[in-house]
Amino acid sequence: MRALRYEAFGPIASVTRLVEAAQPRPGPGQVLVRVLFAAINPLDWKLIEGEFRRIAKSKPPAGIGTEFSGRVEALGPGVAAPAIGRAVVGFINPMARTPGALQQFVAVDAKDVTAIDEADLEAACTLPVAGVSALQMCRLANVKGGDRVLVNGASGGVGSFAVQIVRLLGGRSVATGSRLSQPLLETLEPEAVINYATQKVASWGGPFDVVLDCASTLGDSDIAELMPHGGRYVRTLPAFPSMLLDPLLNGMRPVKRYTLRLKPNTEDVRTLLNWLRRGRLRPLITERFSFTDAVAALDESRSGRARGKLVVRVA
Ligand SMILES: NC(=O)c1ccc[n+]([C@@H]2O[C@H](COP(=O)([O-])OP(=O)(O)OC[C@H]3O[C@@H](n4cnc5c(N)ncnc54)[C@H](OP(=O)(O)O)[C@@H]3O)[C@@H](O)[C@H]2O)c1
Repeated sequence: MRALRYEAFGPIASVTRLVEAAQPRPGPGQVLVRVLFAAINPLDWKLIEGEFRRIAKSKPPAGIGTEFSGRVEALGPGVAAPAIGRAVVGFINPMARTPGALQQFVAVDAKDVTAIDEADLEAACTLPVAGVSALQMCRLANVKGGDRVLVNGASGGVGSFAVQIVRLLGGRSVATGSRLSQPLLETLEPEAVINYATQKVASWGGPFDVVLDCASTLGDSDIAELMPHGGRYVRTLPAFPSMLLDPLLNGMRPVKRYTLRLKPNTEDVRTLLNWLRRGRLRPLITERFSFTDAVAALDESRSGRARGKLVVRVA
């Protein structure tokens, strides 16, 4: 089978190769999936560059990609479902296993895949990482009906899901993005759209109950300005030492702070799939790449200017 691999930690273009590799065999408790679509996340190139070398299982030479959709090709010993041929969405937790969604076949634990409708094959591949991250941010911040929520970095993969999930939970959101992201943010129908580059934080429409900082760019004074009466703040990237101190200090301060640590799981994927099936959640796929152009997709994500989700058609 064809597989995208990285040979060493380093810059994407110099260490990644499309290679011929042996097709994996499903072990006990596993399913073999013929991958049709894989979505790109910053996590993919951060793994390649070695950012998580101390904590991730992914050590080169290794596969790339953590979320995918496709069809069940074979079942390993002890597995009865999903049936062979069934459309599924799945994930590979890179902290526990070596990734490899950007390859024609992947063998994963049956508990990490969820059966889906054929019609959702492309959209579903964006859910396990970016969609579940947004859902878990909302949960950390306890977003509830009536909350006013600022989503900073709303045009990215996580942010574009977060704006929609806030609405599904009964909240109202204000979305920030660069000038070029403004038209795309309007399509998510937040209460207001802010250009973070030209508009001062004081004019972003606070006070808010919650700030979901998907870009992790807001500082202490911004947070105080946005939530002067207290609230809940969640960021996606760790900041030290506050990440370690937050659990101790939260009891004493008006703004509670949290850092997302994504826990991939099928239950959250099912919650998102339910919304997807009912037409209430729409992954914002902005670009589609062929398998031979997967490196270009990784490069675009690496640029920090990717909008919505980038999807690679593997088969
Ligand atoms: N901790 C975890 O478990 C976890 C889980 C998922 C993701 N993450 C991290 O969360 C971050 C976002 O993930 P993602 O998948 O949404 O990334 P993404 O799809 O690459 O989105 C990045 C977005 O950030 C926006 N941006 C760049 N500079 C900004 C600024 N100064 N202010 C506001 N927005 C800005 C860009 O939009 P504009 O062009 O509009 O600026 C871009 O759309 C990544 O660093 C990722 O690694 C962490």
